[in-house]
Amino acid sequence: MACILSVGIGTLDIINSVDGYPAEDAEVRATSQRICRGGNATNTLVVLSQMGHRCDWAGVLSNEPDGFRIVDDLKQYQIDTSHCRIEKKGKVPTSYIAQNLDNGSRTIIHYRDLPEFSFDDFARIDLSRYDWLHFEGRNVDETRKMLAHVVENYPTLPCSLEIEKDRPNIEVLYKYVDTLLFSKNYVLKQEDGCDNAAQQFLKRMHQQFPEKRIICAWGDSGAFGIDPNGKLSHSSPCPPAKVVDTLGAGDTFNAAIIDSLIKGLALDEALNSGCLIAGQKCGHVGLDFINPL
Ligand code: ADP
Ligand code: FRU
Repeated sequence: MACILSVGIGTLDIINSVDGYPAEDAEVRATSQRICRGGNATNTLVVLSQMGHRCDWAGVLSNEPDGFRIVDDLKQYQIDTSHCRIEKKGKVPTSYIAQNLDNGSRTIIHYRDLPEFSFDDFARIDLSRYDWLHFEGRNVDETRKMLAHVVENYPTLPCSLEIEKDRPNIEVLYKYVDTLLFSKNYVLKQEDGCDNAAQQFLKRMHQQFPEKRIICAWGDSGAFGIDPNGKLSHSSPCPPAKVVDTLGAGDTFNAAIIDSLIKGLALDEALNSGCLIAGQKCGHVGLDFINPL
């Protein structure tokens, strides 16, 4: 069991299931609706908590019913929210999601009006009790200060960073962490969509940052990674009998990678575990698929 802190978002997800993705300007009826907590950082913690880790979240909440809903959900997984900043005004970030029951794909329209978690919020946290820190690659200026603070004051504390979107200057964050987790969309953009984009990107990144573990999740093609020895690995996907819900597959994959690396597994073994557990997730609705509560 490790003690893990994640910095990032918690959201309200309003998920409409549809029989096929609608055309623009169409009017369709949802077959069902689910409203639940989401957000990359908190999703990853929910999976890590079910794997037996002690998890704390640092993010921003608002003082309104949907903020309380997020806290209540996390409580069910014994995830601590005491490091969060509570804003008096504003709404928690909200995602309007169309989940296509034909293929499990999820299309997300995301809205937020809350400020982001700041360096001043982060600097108040006593990091000495943690075994692993996980960050979302967002809010670049403040996150850079947080990462620099960790490197300066806790140089042996392992850190992972998820890079999902191409935000301005995001690359300034790379140098601070041991483990970089890139999304397929981000990598395709960097490599102009070329055929072997993942391998090309990983080799290029390894030349720039030879001491890091660098990982790209690749949707239904599994995942790729490169370790500090320059060993390039690929894990095949582990699709379930039927893909029903890919929402949070990447967050689950990240949790499985963190869990594996905490246990001392090699990068190729971590990739296999990531694909196995993310594949299981795709066969279930939601994130309660490891040890159902
Ligand atoms: P995100 O949820 O961030 O879009 P990805 O689509 O890259 O993340 O998926 C993360 C991981 O989930 C992949 O590496 C893969 O192991 C698994 N996965 C995602 N979609 C599928 C699928 N259709 N079939 C099997 N595994 C999948
Ligand atoms: C899934 C997810 C959703 C959330 C959105 C935020 O990965 O975390 O739960 O609404 O992404 O970008």
